[in-house]
Amino acid sequence: MNKLAAVSIVGMGYVGLCTAASFASRGIRTIGIDIDHEKVEQIRKGRAPLHEPQLDNILRKAVKDRLLDATTDMSSAADTNTTFLTVGTPSRPDGSIDLTFLKQATTDLGSALRKKSGYHLVVVKSTVVPGTTSNVVQPTLENHAETKVGRSLGLCANPEFLKEGTAIKDALHPDKIVIGSNDKKSANQLTSFYRKFYAYKLPPVILTSPEAAELVKYASNAFLATKISFINTIANIAQRTPGVDVGTVARAIGLDPRIGQLFLKAGAGYGGSCFHKDIQALIDYSNKNGYDPVLFRATEETNEKQATRVVDMAERLLGSLSDKKVAVLGLAFKKDTDDIREAASLRVISQLRKKGARVVAYDPVAIPNAKKILSDQIVYADNPRSTLKGTDCAVIMTEWDQFRKLKPQDFRAYMKTPNIVDARRIYDPEDFRELNYAAIGLGPVNS
Ligand code: UDX
Repeated sequence: MNKLAAVSIVGMGYVGLCTAASFASRGIRTIGIDIDHEKVEQIRKGRAPLHEPQLDNILRKAVKDRLLDATTDMSSAADTNTTFLTVGTPSRPDGSIDLTFLKQATTDLGSALRKKSGYHLVVVKSTVVPGTTSNVVQPTLENHAETKVGRSLGLCANPEFLKEGTAIKDALHPDKIVIGSNDKKSANQLTSFYRKFYAYKLPPVILTSPEAAELVKYASNAFLATKISFINTIANIAQRTPGVDVGTVARAIGLDPRIGQLFLKAGAGYGGSCFHKDIQALIDYSNKNGYDPVLFRATEETNEKQATRVVDMAERLLGSLSDKKVAVLGLAFKKDTDDIREAASLRVISQLRKKGARVVAYDPVAIPNAKKILSDQIVYADNPRSTLKGTDCAVIMTEWDQFRKLKPQDFRAYMKTPNIVDARRIYDPEDFRELNYAAIGLGPVNS
């Protein structure tokens, strides 16, 4: 790797930190910039402020090797060749994108670059609606840096596609690189950065306009979310059809290469920091541009209602949920993360409580985050078996490996009555035949 390469990354959230650690792990001198002092201190000590497989190891090593540093001081961006913007772009209450953090970061970066002599490339990695790089970032940057893109400033839109739980692997082995730019020099510079970084295997590089690059990210997330709502729709139909299991249907349709096997796992609905937020932003963007994207509204509505499907299943098993004790296994929006943002577990727990159930929950890593939202609305257990103790129903909400290890006899031994709602399809229905087992997408057994 080019030892002289030096980059700064503004926003040490999930994407920024994983990108920074991945860059540094391959010899790029990287500076992480964030306004949060505590986070910066933690990173400087080589400790990850979030749970992500592999991150701790590569972060510790990168800090020790002096390839990664962190600071709250934006002026240090000027000492690098390239700055990646990875600040959050949350939703406003009406679903539209909130660009406050991006505008602030761009303003501060522009001011920091004002005195710099020499070329500086700015790369927008934050997920932003089409037009943001050209119409918001560019003028803000030019105003504050007092120079123009195309002169001493470069500007690209370069979305990321990292998945929580495999973010480091995704950063080191992406399936594509999308670079959107209006000036050739910027695009060439970023392409050559990635060519060196992925020297061992450069993925396909799509060079396009900033607007197309921005839309690629939304199209990708909207497609994936729609695929999940699609299979959940089939699951809800399968559940009402004797002798049908949605798993079999998914396997069969997935053999058609036009459909593919991935992202056809029926469940309690998608969660996480991206899908809901990004689809809402895309819907808002589309509406503002004169088109109502009915399909994506349906994707979201199907997802929202999937939590009700799960609660309905528990209610059907128990008759009534009033004053029943329900064990919720899993709080994270998927396994291998402590992230509970938009997690289906939150929607299900809220509905269980509304129906009068008392909830006891367990998650191997997400309890501290869950406590920040649910506080004492539910009881937190120490392990899967103690969660089940004396409960009337168990609902599987996250596909953690340790839940897969539970046997029918565990449920029978610990629960008051072994009613199970497998909202993640982690068990073989055959094994659970003797128990009151209901699962998403599992039709009534043929008699
Ligand atoms: C997603 C995108 O995959 C990633 O490219 C983008 O950059 C950010 O958003 P992430 O939020 O980490 O990544 O999670 P992902 O693995 O995509 O799962 C999202 C949700 O969908 C999870 O709640 C997951 O459990 C659910 N899901 C996924 C299903 O219910 N069924 C599936 O078949 C796949």
